[in-house]
Amino acid sequence: MGERLAVDGGTPVRKTLLPYGRQSIDEHDIAAVVDVLRSDWLTTGPKVEEFEQAVAAVAGTTEGVAVSSGTAALHAAVYALGIGPGDEVIVPAITFAATANAVVFQGATPVFADVDPGTLLIDPVQVEARITPRTKAVISVDYAGQACDYDRLRAVVERHGLALVDDACHAIGGAYKSRPVGSLATLNTFSFHPVKHVATGEGGVVTTNDSELARRMRVFRNHGISTDHRQREQRGSWFYEMVELGYNYRLSDIHCALGLTQLDKLAQSVTRRQVIAAAYDVALADLAGVSPLAVRDDVSHAYHLYVVQLDLEASNVDRGQVFRALRAEGIGVNVHYVPVHLHPYYQRHFGTRAGLCPNAEAAYEHILSLPMFPGMKDSDVADVLTAVGKIMEAYRR
Ligand SMILES: Cc1ncc(COP(=O)(O)O)c(C=O)c1O
Repeated sequence: MGERLAVDGGTPVRKTLLPYGRQSIDEHDIAAVVDVLRSDWLTTGPKVEEFEQAVAAVAGTTEGVAVSSGTAALHAAVYALGIGPGDEVIVPAITFAATANAVVFQGATPVFADVDPGTLLIDPVQVEARITPRTKAVISVDYAGQACDYDRLRAVVERHGLALVDDACHAIGGAYKSRPVGSLATLNTFSFHPVKHVATGEGGVVTTNDSELARRMRVFRNHGISTDHRQREQRGSWFYEMVELGYNYRLSDIHCALGLTQLDKLAQSVTRRQVIAAAYDVALADLAGVSPLAVRDDVSHAYHLYVVQLDLEASNVDRGQVFRALRAEGIGVNVHYVPVHLHPYYQRHFGTRAGLCPNAEAAYEHILSLPMFPGMKDSDVADVLTAVGKIMEAYRR
């Protein structure tokens, strides 16, 4: 690879690329995984239950069901609600594709609702406008780590007798009106992908207070079989029955041991993310052309992402140029997300088109995610701000 050239052809702000997200793994994490490797159980052993209970404790729910990814968590949630062909589920246009894909996995139809232009969170008014006699559920997404407005969303779903799932993959450790994320909907899904707050490599958990839904998800994650290997071992019985069609969505003891030590650092990780966000907020307040997303004052934001909107009217470039220029400066910016209804798959199979969710589509042209992870040093934060200032200055009309 050739030497990186900055926007002005000179020296870039950083020699090496600062990623937008990165896991923090310490010696406790490593030791916990090694302990499992020396134990009798590599998968579906005691660490799974321990991790489920620890995640449920963070969420303030009675149940946690561990699965192999955040995507599997969403699929298990949609399955447990009995959603199938002919049903519709409302999802936001701005999210990772997995939110809508989980609906498609069950043969149902995702219906895209537009987002609030300030927060990019699903707009309860747009949700209500999309309800039809076929609607069975709404999946909200706590985008970037900010909880949606659950009092308003719950009022809508209760008025229409719908289920509510919170795709909380960005927001573990956050809160809404002092209530923890993970307890805000009937089913709440987390992801433990390395860029998230708690990293297990791959992994997910669904939290709920409904023991029957939890039981259904435990069967679903294990091929549809009603007992797991360890339970049969404890009972001294070989007999098992497959009672439903399920998947192998189990999470291993290796992953769960790592998840447990990672969870110990969650509060610290969220606090560090909030400190970084505050530093960005202060500096960007003085910089024309770059505005952070709006944050409501009834949330504790978990800051999985720090997303800014670029005011491109004040400059002579598009978002793609700003993206490339920041990368050239060594700042690993990213874009979250391509509105899901614009993906070719959805256009082809569900007839979705540009124009369906105008706020999401307009925002998509202007958003950038700045680096945000707890291991960032203050000097990394300063580098990001220096580079953003330099690029916006260079491109000012
Ligand atoms: C909002 C959202 N939902 C679901 C997922 C899927 O999680 P996983 O990657 O663990 O399958 C992600 C992951 O990036 C996500 O950001």
